[in-house]
Amino acid sequence: MKQLKILIIEDEKLIRWSLEKHLSAKGYTVFSAESGEEGIALFEVHNPEVVFIDNKLPQMQGIDVILKIKSLDEEVILVFMTAYGSIETAVNAMKAGATEYINKPFAFEEIEVMLENIKNKLSIIKEIQLLRRQQKDVVTFDHIIGESALIKQIIQLSKKIAKTKSTTILLLGESGTGKDMFAHAIHNESTRNEKPFVTINCSSLPETLLESELFGHEKGAFTDARQLKKGLFEIAEGGTVFLDEIGEINMATQIKLLGVLENRIVRRLGGTANIPVDIRIVAATNRDLKKAVDEKLFREDLYYRLKVFQITLPPLRERVEDIPILAEYFIGYYNHQFQKNVKSINDSVRRILVHYNWPGNIRELRNVIERAVILENMNILQAESLPGEIISISQNFPTPADGAVKNPKVFKKSELPFEISIPPEGLKLYEIEKLIIKQVLEATENNQTRTSKLLGITRDTLRYKVKKYRL
Ligand SMILES: Nc1ncnc2c1ncn2[C@@H]1O[C@H](COP(=O)(O)OP(=O)(O)OP(=O)(O)O)[C@@H](O)[C@H]1O
Ligand SMILES: [Mg+2]
Repeated sequence: MKQLKILIIEDEKLIRWSLEKHLSAKGYTVFSAESGEEGIALFEVHNPEVVFIDNKLPQMQGIDVILKIKSLDEEVILVFMTAYGSIETAVNAMKAGATEYINKPFAFEEIEVMLENIKNKLSIIKEIQLLRRQQKDVVTFDHIIGESALIKQIIQLSKKIAKTKSTTILLLGESGTGKDMFAHAIHNESTRNEKPFVTINCSSLPETLLESELFGHEKGAFTDARQLKKGLFEIAEGGTVFLDEIGEINMATQIKLLGVLENRIVRRLGGTANIPVDIRIVAATNRDLKKAVDEKLFREDLYYRLKVFQITLPPLRERVEDIPILAEYFIGYYNHQFQKNVKSINDSVRRILVHYNWPGNIRELRNVIERAVILENMNILQAESLPGEIISISQNFPTPADGAVKNPKVFKKSELPFEISIPPEGLKLYEIEKLIIKQVLEATENNQTRTSKLLGITRDTLRYKVKKYRL
């Protein structure tokens, strides 16, 4: 554990000075103040782990300082210093939140022993927190399943970059491709793995809340800011901050984030102090950030700061050979979870899974398998346990595994106008249908058999529609 930060609040110059000198010589980082007010101000900036507080201070009394500092930080260790014999004052101080007390005059050895004990206590607390965290998310690269050359190469590269200390990493990929998993694995593979992994979903909070979560705020920064709050960048000190759905943050927050990336300092809302932070930032989005930059929705400078190292996770349909492997893995997992006896999948299930286009990627596959394992009564997973739409779509939507169609454009669902912004005057359904048919016809070079198959309609229906829409 690194050396403690200590604050001394003591008006008697000689005691303050000698304590400061002594503790600094022992390697502690020491700040000192001669009044309660000054002490509180220093506390808010430096957030020391231990504060020595004298009982008799010029204006604000020791007990009030204790109450105040406790209200700012629950976990801080407060050492109350009082003249020999005033037991009652000491008891009151403990009631107010002091953890230790020491009689004046004191010997430095006494203080040293006390600080050693405090250090041990704090490191045990940290260890417990760490263990708790590890129990929750022990994702490492060993948990990332995949045998395709593509994913293997990405894992190898990610491991390498995980070893760098502070390189910013941008994870791109459709929903459910494993961005969360990679962010965790990178942290756990890095030298920061004993420090916090802090994650925030940038789309889940309104902008002011997001900023106060990220940067923290001083007491009184806004109406509800009754206490000083450390932001996630500070909380993650030494560790990793995972900014999920980074594509959703607004311009004002983008500027602040740029500041953090460029200077590695944060400023709490309503604060003036620049607080240095030692963190790695991993950001993720399923949006096309480059496009957002072109559309002036995302700052170009921030984009380049984030993509120092960019990892694009492929959609599942582009790593078809991993589908059966992942399916078997999830079967094993849910089999155990639900105490079932499903061992494997049969050929027709394999074919269906491989031919389906998995818009929800691995998450969708996982959910499908979970459901199937629950439903299955046999040892081998049967097609009947799969959702009907997967069976029918996988028959109508050949994947690249088929090699059936030359132009792979057809397979990318996202390229079809599925996300349509409806103009105020409305939009007729047949217009959309016409657009889709037109696009698929182009992609198949006017092959009506393939087009009808891809669209799940008969050739007669297609012919009828082509005529109707004059395609
Ligand atoms: N390679 C993999 N091996 C095993 N499980 C995986 C793998 N990739 C993803 N998963 C599982 O798939 C699910 C989705 O993964 P994850 O949450 O990491 O995706 P994501 O890219 O962050 O998605 P979103 O964009 O929706 O946040 C999780 O349950 C995860 O455990
Ligand atoms: Mg995610």
